Amino acid sequence: MMTKLPSQPGPIGVFDSGYGGLTILQHFREILPQYDYIYLGDNARTPYGPRSFEVVYEFTLQAVNKLFEMGCHLVILACNTASAKALRNIQQKNLPHIDPNRRVLGIIRPTVEIVNEITKTKHVGVLGTAGTIQSQTYNIEIAKLYPDIVTVGEACPMWVPLVENSEYNQPGADYFVKKYVDNILCKDPQIDTLILGCTHYPLLAPKIKQFLPEGVRLLSQGQYVVKSLQDYLQRHPEMDEKCTKQGRCSFYTTESEAKFAIAASVFLKEKVDVHRITLE
Ligand code: DGL
Repeated sequence: MMTKLPSQPGPIGVFDSGYGGLTILQHFREILPQYDYIYLGDNARTPYGPRSFEVVYEFTLQAVNKLFEMGCHLVILACNTASAKALRNIQQKNLPHIDPNRRVLGIIRPTVEIVNEITKTKHVGVLGTAGTIQSQTYNIEIAKLYPDIVTVGEACPMWVPLVENSEYNQPGADYFVKKYVDNILCKDPQIDTLILGCTHYPLLAPKIKQFLPEGVRLLSQGQYVVKSLQDYLQRHPEMDEKCTKQGRCSFYTTESEAKFAIAASVFLKEKVDVHRITLE
């Protein structure tokens, strides 16, 4: 049985399995600095990419419930794996029971919506975790909106560990960056747009670009996700009223506070004050 949720306005919740969602949070704080945010990273159980549908759903639901208990009315799953494997179930099965007025939004739809404006060849590649690629969520969502676009996915299981271990800009990363880029372009040489379908990957973008042939563009999600959140809040003033606006941001992790603070400073280029919590 859930505890009674706070009814007063609260921060916007931003959730990721680890640090990746910080690349999305950065855009929120830049474009929508007036809002308050709570960032929650499930660092103790990251990565989610190789985990089963059931487990990602269970862990994500625990995180969403925790953010609701902490006062959020709106939670963004700043994680493609959680958006692919848990979002629909949470929206359809859980929210009506938890509180039909609270909202959970993902980051795949806003990314998919823009793709048609970017690709000229109408051949798009998606780079993501094994979970995101196996779920076929990008392929399904792109086909619904733009049936003429061909979508091919490539799971890049070594990329999240490279980022989580701060190896993303080291020479050792080159091998795995080139490998997955070559694989996807070999599957479909007509691809002109590669979606970075994992919030960890923007840190690898400079390296990925080194291995891209001319004419292939990288699509990073942050700018489109923030635009979509901005539109959402404008279209839903009732939700906007429930979001506090003092420009504050707090950070929570399920792992060690010290570890999070060091890694977060790599992503955000600032020192953060972080608290440890447990999810169950
Ligand atoms: N950052 C997450 C995403 O966008 C996944 C990382 C993980 O495997 O946990 O998919």
